[in-house]
Amino acid sequence: MYRFILALVLLVCEGTSRKIPKDFKFGTSTAAFQVEGAWNVSGKGESIWDRFTHSHPELVRDHSNGDVACDTYHEWREDIEILKDLGVDFHRFSLSWPRILPDGFARRINPDGVRFYNDFINKLLKNNIEPLVTLYHWDLPQRLQDLGGWTNPDMAVYFEEYAKIAFELFGDRVKRWITINEPHSFCEFTYGYGHGAPHIFSPGIGDYLCGKTVLIAHARAYHLYQREFKKSQGGKIGISLDTNWAEPMTNSTEDIKAAERQLEMEFGWWANPIFSNTGDYPEVMKQRVDERSRLENFTISRLPALTTDEIKMIKGTADFLGLNHYHTWLVGDHDFPIDGEPSHEKDMGIKSRQDPNWKPSPQIVPWGFRKLMNWIKEKYNNPLVYITENGYGDISEALEDHDRVTQIKLFIQAVMDAVEKDGCNVKRYTYWSTLDNMEWSLGYTVKFGLYHVDFTSPNRTRTPKLSAKTFKDIIRKRQL
Ligand SMILES: *[C@@H]1O[C@H](CO)[C@@H](O)[C@H](O)[C@H]1NC(C)=O
Ligand SMILES: *[C@@H]1O[C@H](CO)[C@@H](O)[C@H](O)[C@H]1NC(C)=O
Ligand SMILES: *[C@@H]1O[C@H](CO)[C@@H](O)[C@H](O)[C@H]1NC(C)=O
Ligand SMILES: *[C@@H]1O[C@H](CO)[C@@H](O)[C@H](O)[C@H]1NC(C)=O
Repeated sequence: MYRFILALVLLVCEGTSRKIPKDFKFGTSTAAFQVEGAWNVSGKGESIWDRFTHSHPELVRDHSNGDVACDTYHEWREDIEILKDLGVDFHRFSLSWPRILPDGFARRINPDGVRFYNDFINKLLKNNIEPLVTLYHWDLPQRLQDLGGWTNPDMAVYFEEYAKIAFELFGDRVKRWITINEPHSFCEFTYGYGHGAPHIFSPGIGDYLCGKTVLIAHARAYHLYQREFKKSQGGKIGISLDTNWAEPMTNSTEDIKAAERQLEMEFGWWANPIFSNTGDYPEVMKQRVDERSRLENFTISRLPALTTDEIKMIKGTADFLGLNHYHTWLVGDHDFPIDGEPSHEKDMGIKSRQDPNWKPSPQIVPWGFRKLMNWIKEKYNNPLVYITENGYGDISEALEDHDRVTQIKLFIQAVMDAVEKDGCNVKRYTYWSTLDNMEWSLGYTVKFGLYHVDFTSPNRTRTPKLSAKTFKDIIRKRQL
C-alpha cells in the first residue's frame, strides 16, 4: 500500500514537470568533523568532538568517532569529482577551527590546515563550483571549551578573531560565508541536555548562555566583515538556523498558540534578534523564561537579557537567512509544573508528536516545509533565504534509496511552490549530505548521503545511490 501511494505521488509530480527558475542554485553540504578525519595529523588541534567521542564512546550510538570518517582530508580530490559529476552550482562545507588554529587562539596558524583548505577551494573554483563556507559547524577547539566554550561570553571575541583569519586567508575567493551552524541544535542539545560534545548538562541555563554568546559572536563577525573586508572582497554573510515545522495539533486557540510559540522559541530565539524589525528575543520567550525563573526562585532570569546596545549591534546582521529543515511535528499546549530541573522544553510548554498516517511518510512532510518558508516570509519581511540543509536520514546500506528519491523530489517541489506560488525569496537549495558520514552522537548508524561510503574500506570507497542520479538529473535538466 505504502509503495503504491508513493508511486502515485511521484506520478502526480512527474505529470506536472516544471522549470527551475534561472537564478536558483543547487548544492550539497558537509561539515568538517563529519567527513574530514585526520583528527590528529598535520598540526590539527583537538576539537570538543574528538574529546567527547574518545572519552565517552558509550554515548555514541555505535561507539565510533571521527578519527577517519570519510577521510576527506586525504580523499578530497575524489569528493570534488563527485561534486563535478552531480553538477552542483556550489558546495557548502565547514572549516575546522582547530585545524586552522590548533589551540583556538589566533596567535598560531597551522600552515598545513591552511594549505588543505586552499587546495580544496582552488580546485572547487577551477571546476566552477562556488564554495559556501561555514565558519563554525560544532567542532570547537577543546582548549576553548576548557574555558567554558559557548557559555563563556568571551568566546564571541575568540570567534571574531578566528573569523578574521578566515576572511584574510580565504575571502579573496570565498564570497558566501555562514558564521554559525544551527545554534538551536548545539546550544540546546549539548549545553542543555548534554547529548554530545561538550557534554554539559545544564538545561534551561547553559543553552540560554550559549545562545546569547552565539548571537554576539555572529554579530561581531558580521560587523568585522563589513568594516574590513566587504569593500575589497564583496561577499555575503549569513547564519544557518534550524527548525522543525510546528503544525497545531488541534484547532484550539491553545494549540495554535503553542505551535507558534515553538517556532518563536526554537527559531525566533536567533531569528528575531537578527532579522526582525524590533530585534531582541521573541516577547513570548522573554515572558515565559522570566516568569518560570522567578517561580523557580532564580534571582535573575535564566534567559540572559540582551541590552539595548546588544540589540542594536545584533539587529540586521545577515545578508541572507540560511534555513536547515528536516521534519514536521504536531504541536500542542502542555503545562509543565514548576519542579525539578528547568529546561527549554518546559519553558516552551509544548507537547509534540508525528502523525503515522502522513503520506508519503511521517519523515517526509513537504507541506510543512512550504508552510515554514511562508512563515519566515511573513514574520521577517521576506528575507533572502538559502536552504542550507535539507535531507533524508535512513539506516539502510541500500543503493536503491527510493525514499530519499521521493524526499528530494517532493521537497524541491515544495521550494518551487514557495517561490513561484507564494513569492518566498528562496534562492538556493542545499542537500544534506553529499556523503554518508559521521552523524554526531548517532555515529555511522544514520545515513544522509547521496553517495554511499564504505566505512570498512581503507579508501572509504564512495558509490552513488539512486538519489545521486535524481539530484543530478534535476540540476542538469533544471526541471522537476
Ligand atoms: C592519531 O590517532 C590515531 C587513532 O585514530 C592513533 O592510532 C595515532 O597514534 C595518533 N597519532 C598521533 C601522532 O598521535
Ligand atoms: C483546522 O481547521 C481547518 C480549517 O477549518 C481544517 O482544514 C483542519 O483540518 C483543522 N485541523 C484540525 C487538526 O482539526
Ligand atoms: C521558592 O521559594 C518559596 C518560598 O521559600 C517556596 O515555597 C517554593 O517551594 C520555592 N519553589 C521552588 C521551585 O523551589
Ligand atoms: C578504493 O579501493 C577499492 C578497492 O579497495 C578500489 O576498487 C577503488 O578503485 C579505490 N578507489 C579509489 C578512488 O582509489
